Amino acid sequence: MENNRINTFHGPKFIFFGRGAAGKIPQGIAVVSPSVYKNFKALLVKIDSNPVLFARRGALREPGEGDVLTLAGILRKKIKTAPSLPVVAVGGGSVIDAVKIAVRIASSDGLTFEKIYNDGIPRPPKNSPYLIAVETTAGTGTGVTGVAVVTKKDNVKRGIASPYLIPDEAYYDPDFIDVLPNDIFASSAMDALTHAIEAYVSRIENIPADTMALKAAEMIGNNIIAGYKGVLSARELVHYGNMMAGYAFSNARLGLCHALAHLIGGRFGVSHGRINAILLPDVIEHNIEAAEKYDRIAFSLGISVGGLAKHIRCLNTELGIANSLSFLGEKFKSMINTIAEEASVSSLMKVNPCRLAPAEIAEMLSRLYG
Ligand SMILES: [Fe+2]
Repeated sequence: MENNRINTFHGPKFIFFGRGAAGKIPQGIAVVSPSVYKNFKALLVKIDSNPVLFARRGALREPGEGDVLTLAGILRKKIKTAPSLPVVAVGGGSVIDAVKIAVRIASSDGLTFEKIYNDGIPRPPKNSPYLIAVETTAGTGTGVTGVAVVTKKDNVKRGIASPYLIPDEAYYDPDFIDVLPNDIFASSAMDALTHAIEAYVSRIENIPADTMALKAAEMIGNNIIAGYKGVLSARELVHYGNMMAGYAFSNARLGLCHALAHLIGGRFGVSHGRINAILLPDVIEHNIEAAEKYDRIAFSLGISVGGLAKHIRCLNTELGIANSLSFLGEKFKSMINTIAEEASVSSLMKVNPCRLAPAEIAEMLSRLYG
């Protein structure tokens, strides 16, 4: 395993979590998911009487580059009018990720996606707005991470990582999770479980990140089914586990499962959590160098040595998620070798526990296709 001699551990300056935490959010320039606005209007108009309702144009889970640029234009005008107010992003991954990038574009002269992809996010100017993230799903952890995902014009998702994308402050209030539809709870919670597991086994050994990852896997894994069935105390623990898994992967990164999820999810219109859930058991079985670490996770979930992949397939079945990629059809089958080649050179493969050849990844995808 690789281990840097000097490690860092980063995250927001403040996290507020617990029932009613959202009541502490200060007034600001709010960008809100329309579904969250519908359910929590009385709370949200106290933060901003005229919030931006942000919805993606497509059915994909992550915002497109065009969505982010449009939002940046709106925010630039609002920030100019009220420069001292914080920007408050309220929603799931698509809203918060879009705001994280849009705020940086709005407060930097001439920043384009091309420059971001080539040179990264530049240090924000001193007068750029304070950023508050209010995560309202159980899954992306984006309220605490320095990561944002966008869908590029070719429908391939691209993760952008930078310390300048970390929100200054984040809120995790389980009241938001109580009202999530069961299928959205299930797929977002499986994304969070994947974050915890991939961060824990990554080649980056970072003690606080690993500690958070293992605890997050336990909290999510042991509560996901009860949460899916509507037990609110279980949903609450999954929500906090999601936050901790976000800390873990922001510091220890992810691996093959997410490399493939980004390549497949956007192209074939499958939700991010669902595609991760389907891929995860096979990724575990191929990452044989991390077997001992997977067993530590299995132990925390009360399952037998070597049983983690099988356990996740059982979770998927109970959550109504298939354990197969056959539903993607012939087009997917014809792209398996291309996707395997692309995944093998993904930056996430640098920290995946095993270095797999394109042929091995293709074999895995073919088996999953059935
Ligand atoms: Fe994810």
